[in-house]
Amino acid sequence: MTGLVAERSPEAVNPKLPTGEIEVVVEHYEVLNECEVLPFPVSDEEQMRKVSEELRIKHRYVDLRRPTMYQKLAVRAACVRNIRQYLDESGFLEIETPIMTKSTPEGARDYLVPYRLEPGKFYALPQSPQQYKQLLMVAGVERYYQIAKCFRDEAQRADRQPEFTQLDLEMSFVTQEDVIEVAEGVTRFVCNRVIEEFDLPLSPVSEFPRLTYDDALARFGTDKPDLRFGLELFDVTEIASESEFGVFRSAVEAGGIVRGIRYPGGAALSRKQIADMETFAKEFGAKGLAHLPVAASNDEEAKGIARFFSKEQLAKITQAASAEPGDLLLFVADRQSVTLNVLARLRNEIGDRCGLRDPMRLAFCWVLDFPLVLWDEEEGRWEASHHPFTSPKASDLEYLESDPGRVRADCYDIVCNGVEWASGSIRIHRPDVQARVFSLLGIDEASQQERFGHILQAFRLGAPPHGGIAPGIDRLVMLLLGEDNIREVMAFPKVGGGYDPLMDAPSEVDAAQLRELGILIETDPED
Ligand code: AMO
Repeated sequence: MTGLVAERSPEAVNPKLPTGEIEVVVEHYEVLNECEVLPFPVSDEEQMRKVSEELRIKHRYVDLRRPTMYQKLAVRAACVRNIRQYLDESGFLEIETPIMTKSTPEGARDYLVPYRLEPGKFYALPQSPQQYKQLLMVAGVERYYQIAKCFRDEAQRADRQPEFTQLDLEMSFVTQEDVIEVAEGVTRFVCNRVIEEFDLPLSPVSEFPRLTYDDALARFGTDKPDLRFGLELFDVTEIASESEFGVFRSAVEAGGIVRGIRYPGGAALSRKQIADMETFAKEFGAKGLAHLPVAASNDEEAKGIARFFSKEQLAKITQAASAEPGDLLLFVADRQSVTLNVLARLRNEIGDRCGLRDPMRLAFCWVLDFPLVLWDEEEGRWEASHHPFTSPKASDLEYLESDPGRVRADCYDIVCNGVEWASGSIRIHRPDVQARVFSLLGIDEASQQERFGHILQAFRLGAPPHGGIAPGIDRLVMLLLGEDNIREVMAFPKVGGGYDPLMDAPSEVDAAQLRELGILIETDPED
């Protein structure tokens, strides 16, 4: 098209458009392609809020025309560009590892790819490049990274996709401290660069505080604490065991704990609002939620659960909670795992309700010293708390068989605003220790050979001590953009149980293709 730019007549001026004061008086034009009516009004952000997400994803190529969506892609590209710059300058080598491979356990189901030449055999898509990066260390690479696609068939959540991207890195001849230095370095570099480049409304990211796993659980009820605000949990198990309050006493007698959380100004909540909090707690497994308003004076007549405590006990509770008059104290009395989980979720909920989760801050922290294994009640066996390649702390190795629950791992996570953004560890590099950990996880010798023979063999051929970490790139973009939904920061995300509405995938395939692969589909007669 050619023509002359001219001012619009006053009645044609559109202040909503950046070009709303001008127009082009066309002298010549050519139609390159005709366009049907769009499925939604991409230039009207107000109207776009009413459009269903599935429709947006079905026509993602139209959705991505919106400047807000383009900006998300640009921020993502800038994250990756800065990651590459930092690691390339720090002597890391970017190496691609295979997508069609053998199962690498990261706690999810595998996506399988049938192998045409030997029907009945399958590749697995990698849940992470974990084993390949360890093999690269045995190969003498010393500093590896990859912007790696990972595939996990697991329940979807707001911060989970079946196919996602990690910054995967690994280093040899290192201690935990060396990996921490690189991972924190790259995170701060990338965040601060991107915040500046896009003028994002976030404060610069400074040094990460460190917490141990035990500390994080005791103070925040979770290993993913949101450190943008305080409201730490407080323990009243001892006071509860001496009180007249049967609910608390019996929980303690059954081996449980009683912990509480402070709701600032919560004494003013209505009965209905408190009942809503209790419903929330019950959703996560609490049997109930006891509440205690903090009175202005110790002489006020005791009401509610206060009747079951002496004045001294009430004073001790208020002190443990660092409570002020007008606050509301909420308590859960149950098994430790239930109590901590419910209170951790309540803490975030109270943080939201009280406006304490400052959207302008990225509060990163390290969580260190995880247990090597956790007891899975349902399955009745030990589960790796991270993955089976994580090294036990040398000082705890002697308890591996006799008292596995006591063994700590050289394992570290980076958490930001209550979200896990990276997970890593020093790895096992000795075949005997790896075999002992596999055995602890219930993997017998034959399965060890069949599933992990390659890595055990590599460890016999001069494997250096090594360790690494893998931050999630999608989650980083979410944090930087303040997005609650991972789909918003991916060009072509999946919905529901892994469906791609744009390509209509997964989809059925030709009978001939199935025959070639030796696959017979059995349909359930009930369906
Ligand atoms: P892990 O399984 O903890 O560790 O994953 C590391 C990081 O990857 C991101 N992540 C995800 N992001 C989006 N959707 C998902 N389904 C998803 N699952 C994980 C998170 C998480 O912190 N091999 C180890 C790392 C290592 O030990 O080096 C691993 O994959 O940000």
